[in-house]
Amino acid sequence: MADTDTKTEVSEAQIAVHWKEEEYYYPSEKFVAQANMNDPSVIERFAPDNFPDCFREYADMLEWFEPYHTVLDTSNAPFWKWFVGGKLNASYNCVDRHLDNYADKAAYIFVPEPENEEIIHLTYEQLYARVNEVAALLRGLGLKAGDRVTFHLPMTPELPITMLACARLGVIHSQVFGGFSGQACGTRIQDSGSRVLVTMDAYWRNGSLIDHKVNADIAVQTAQEMGQDVDRVLIWQRYPGKYSSPTPLVQGRDVIMNDLLKDYAGQRVEPEPMDAEAPLFLMYTSGTTGKPKGIQHRTGGYLAYVTATSKWIQDIHPTDVYWCMADIGWITGHSYIVYGPLSCAATGVIYEGVPTFPDAGRPWRIAEKLGVNIFHTAPTSIRMLRKLGPDEPSKYNYHFKAMTTVGEPIEPEAWRWYYDVVGKGQAIITDTWWQTETGGFLCCTLPALQPMKPGSAGPGLPGIYPVILDENGDEVPQGSGRAGNLCIRNPWPGEMQTIWGDPQRYIDTYYRRYNRDNASKDWRDWPYMAGDGAMQAEDGYFRILGRIDDVINVAGHRLGTKEIESACLTVPEVAEAAVVPVADEMKGRVPVVYIALKPGIEPSDDIVRRVVKANEELIGKIARPKFVYIVPDMPKTRSGKIMRRVLASISNKREVGDVTTLANPGVVEEIRVMVQGQEKQVEAGEMPEDIAKFGQVE
Ligand code: WTA
Repeated sequence: MADTDTKTEVSEAQIAVHWKEEEYYYPSEKFVAQANMNDPSVIERFAPDNFPDCFREYADMLEWFEPYHTVLDTSNAPFWKWFVGGKLNASYNCVDRHLDNYADKAAYIFVPEPENEEIIHLTYEQLYARVNEVAALLRGLGLKAGDRVTFHLPMTPELPITMLACARLGVIHSQVFGGFSGQACGTRIQDSGSRVLVTMDAYWRNGSLIDHKVNADIAVQTAQEMGQDVDRVLIWQRYPGKYSSPTPLVQGRDVIMNDLLKDYAGQRVEPEPMDAEAPLFLMYTSGTTGKPKGIQHRTGGYLAYVTATSKWIQDIHPTDVYWCMADIGWITGHSYIVYGPLSCAATGVIYEGVPTFPDAGRPWRIAEKLGVNIFHTAPTSIRMLRKLGPDEPSKYNYHFKAMTTVGEPIEPEAWRWYYDVVGKGQAIITDTWWQTETGGFLCCTLPALQPMKPGSAGPGLPGIYPVILDENGDEVPQGSGRAGNLCIRNPWPGEMQTIWGDPQRYIDTYYRRYNRDNASKDWRDWPYMAGDGAMQAEDGYFRILGRIDDVINVAGHRLGTKEIESACLTVPEVAEAAVVPVADEMKGRVPVVYIALKPGIEPSDDIVRRVVKANEELIGKIARPKFVYIVPDMPKTRSGKIMRRVLASISNKREVGDVTTLANPGVVEEIRVMVQGQEKQVEAGEMPEDIAKFGQVE
């Protein structure tokens, strides 16, 4: 720990440009030659003059039961309608239409967490049969188009199978991340008005077979207390034929899916021709208030958007083996494990467990064994795998052609390890910026046409026209070195339709801020505000600075916490870094840094000094952390995100709240003692608004 407080002055422009522009990396000729999108005319085809008709090209990638008559209808702005009049079915597009060519090819390869358990290949033919049987079962329970069904499923093939079965009927699915608590699931059941919950008895995580059914009982009770009754809990068995949970079934309510399915063996269900605008699913995401938002996605526009971006950005061919390590319980899994890749006839890997179980070589063993050639993960996993096994990838004989990163800004340091070590210098990287609300990628390089730049997501995708707006709604010019609010000028087919049950919140959150005329039917008057700070370099590439509420305002100047963390990570001993804002009398807010070291490295004052120096050198004295704490581990959610809010509470001397849902709750008290001493220090009064909200968006 070191007190490094000094008074400094620096202009906002200096801060914004501190993260120096990195060199370009170019794709290999070999990659370009085989890429799905290597025709430079795409940029012109999707130029603003061709909007919105350019998106016909996306719709053409799908099979429609009835053609649409209008590409974009803006008459009820900002509730845009896409491909109006068209009818299609997502399940048909993801499964049935591939049977002619790919019936015997694996749609999914399921890798259980226990390494001695058999890997399961599920062909398109088998997927078709299973989706149909589950659809028949759901129909048998009386479910029909427009009904909502909540899932609380772990990472096994039953999750996409049940999603596709719902889509076949036009039933709206709402998958709650399996790692969320029963209560969290219950509040989402209530909000969506689901009368059916689909869950699984148990699943493997980090070496234990976890009882998951127990969460269903809590979820149903929570929903009921909030006024929503659940009639049926459908329970998949992790091991078919065997109930793996110690929690008893509730008679009359709970049904074992695997048993009930026997009544539907061999049944087929015609895919329901759904309106392009019919909702396909809900995905709850946290906002600035405590109540999660049910982000509602449409069928036609969404499916067209994720299909095209899976093809052009992820470069998925039916011959590829594609592995996205995200959980299907998040938007990344919906768009880029289920709907996009299946629509492209991909072979996808579904891995049940923790990437580092039983050791940090696991992902690379899986890649070698299954011949994975497209890999997709988040910076947090990249950092973790780097921390625990920096040399592991080189021990395995796999070859990626393409890799994706998503979810957070990736520091150039981690980017280079991903490129050099994981990708072995052969794979392109796409840094894809997007959100639950956007359905699919919005900013990213076209991998065969635009060079990569570490730390930058890239320009807008074809047909996406991003802009940075300042406080007054004025455009921040490209290359100015100034940061602002990242907005999208135009609607796009993958965009959410609304917030379930709360259309006003949709307008208020994303459109109110920069709307020029609330009676306007012209999309040009309705820029979409993403809620992220960003800056645009001379070359048009966007660098994402993080959520607006992840920005620390130091002496009136904004600092992206990711920038400070990136600087910390340039110190070779540092494995992970997290920065939190701390109230400071002199400067308003100051950054406090928490770091975790690589294995086997002892904490020392020298490391602290070098972390401080790295910040001074890479950013400026203004970013000098007030304190640097070397912690044994970061408090993390079970999905691996660092809980900066917990660290901010400790540093701001406030109660940390309930930490029992963390992956490592024990470390919180250790850190508290390190920061506050044995005696607990809790200051009176509420935490300042910006700090209280800090990190909540995660
Ligand atoms: C952040 C995840 C930097 C951003 C798909 C956004 C990113 C939030 C990137 C959405 C990226 C996502 N670089 N930041 N490539 N991708 N983000 O809804 O702050 O879970 O607003 O969707 O993640 O998170 P969400």
